[in-house]
Amino acid sequence: MLTNTTPALRRAWHCVAESDSVTDTPARVWLLDVPWVVVRIGGIARAFVDRCPHRSAPLSIGTLVGDELQCAYHGWRYDDTGTCTAIPALGDGAHIPSRACLTTPFAVEERFGLVFIAPLKPLSPLPRADFLGDDTFEVARCTTTRTHVGAAQLIDNFMDAAHFPYVHTATFGVADATTVESGEVVADGWQVSSTFSAPYRNHDDPLVDGGAHPLVQPHTVRKVGRADFITELELSFELTGGSFRILYAVTPERADTTCVYKVIARNDLRHAPGRIEKVAADEDAILAEDLLVLERYDDASVDLSNRSGEISTRADRLSVAWRHLMMRALEADAESRAPSSTNTDRPNVGDSVSTSVRRTETVA
Ligand code: FES
Ligand code: FE
Repeated sequence: MLTNTTPALRRAWHCVAESDSVTDTPARVWLLDVPWVVVRIGGIARAFVDRCPHRSAPLSIGTLVGDELQCAYHGWRYDDTGTCTAIPALGDGAHIPSRACLTTPFAVEERFGLVFIAPLKPLSPLPRADFLGDDTFEVARCTTTRTHVGAAQLIDNFMDAAHFPYVHTATFGVADATTVESGEVVADGWQVSSTFSAPYRNHDDPLVDGGAHPLVQPHTVRKVGRADFITELELSFELTGGSFRILYAVTPERADTTCVYKVIARNDLRHAPGRIEKVAADEDAILAEDLLVLERYDDASVDLSNRSGEISTRADRLSVAWRHLMMRALEADAESRAPSSTNTDRPNVGDSVSTSVRRTETVA
C-alpha cells in the first residue's frame, strides 16, 4: 500500500512551501508525518527536523538571531548547517557535544517559486520545467489546496484520462469523448510518460468567442510520472499552436493531510489582462471536480500490489505503469535499508528523519 507515511517516500523530492512563505521567521511544515522547521538564513531556504536535540522543543517557535536559529526554550543556537554554536547555560568557551546538531534533509531546493525537500537521496531529480524560464510563457500559481485525499491517490488520478467526460463536466471534459486513446507508455529510468490525443473544451482560446475557432478542439497530452509525487503535463493545441504546461506537486504532509501545489504556464494568451489568472482559477475548478470524487473514498491509500483486485484496462496503462514504478521505488528503498547494503543516502547530519530517537546526554 502506498500511503502518506510510506517510508520509501523519503527518497523523493517533496514541495513543502511556497517560496514567499519561507522568511526569517521560522515556520513549521509537515512532510511524511515528520515536522520540519523552514527558515530563510542569509537569503537561502533551509530546513531541519523541527526538534531541538536538547529537550526536544520545536525550533519553529524559535527565532533567527543574525544567521543563527535560536531555540526558544534554553537559547541553544544553530548555524545554517544545523551545527550547534552556543549553549548559553554553560558560558563562553564550553565544550559543545558533537551530537548537538539538527537533523537536515539530504537536500533543499528552491525552484518555480516553491521550496522542495528531499529527506534522503532522491531517486528522481527535480523536474527541469524549462518553460518556467521561457519569456514566451505566462506563468501563474494555482491556489494551494489541502485535502484528506492521499497524495498517491491524487497522482494516480492525474495519470488517469478516462475520467475526463464524467468528472470534468463543468470545465474541459467533452461529454461524448469517452474512448481513451491508448498512448504507448515510455519507461525511462525512474520516469514513465505517455502521449495521446483527446478533444478538449478550450475556453482559454481567445478566438473561440468570435467563432473563429470551435470550443471543442483536438489537443495532444503528454503526461510524465516519476518516482515521487511531482508530475508534469504538457498540452499542445493544434488550432492555436499553443502550449499549456502544468507542474503538479502533491505533498504527503501527514497521514490524513495532503497539500496540492500547481504551477501553470501558457504561451497562447497574448498577455491579455487577467487571462492567466482566469486559467489558474479554472485549474482550481478542475481540482475541485477531482476532489468531489476522491474525497468520497473510504481509504486514502493506493494498492500497488493490487491485493484488493481492482480491474485495470488498457485505458489505465499510464496509471498502472506509474504504480509499477512506485512499487520499484519501494523495493529500492527496502534494499537500501537491508542490513547488508551500504547506505550512503542518510541525511547530512544527525538522526534518521524517520525515527526521532530521544537520547539524553550529560554535558560536563
Ligand atoms: Fe532547545 Fe533546550 S530545548 S535549547
Ligand atoms: Fe481530473
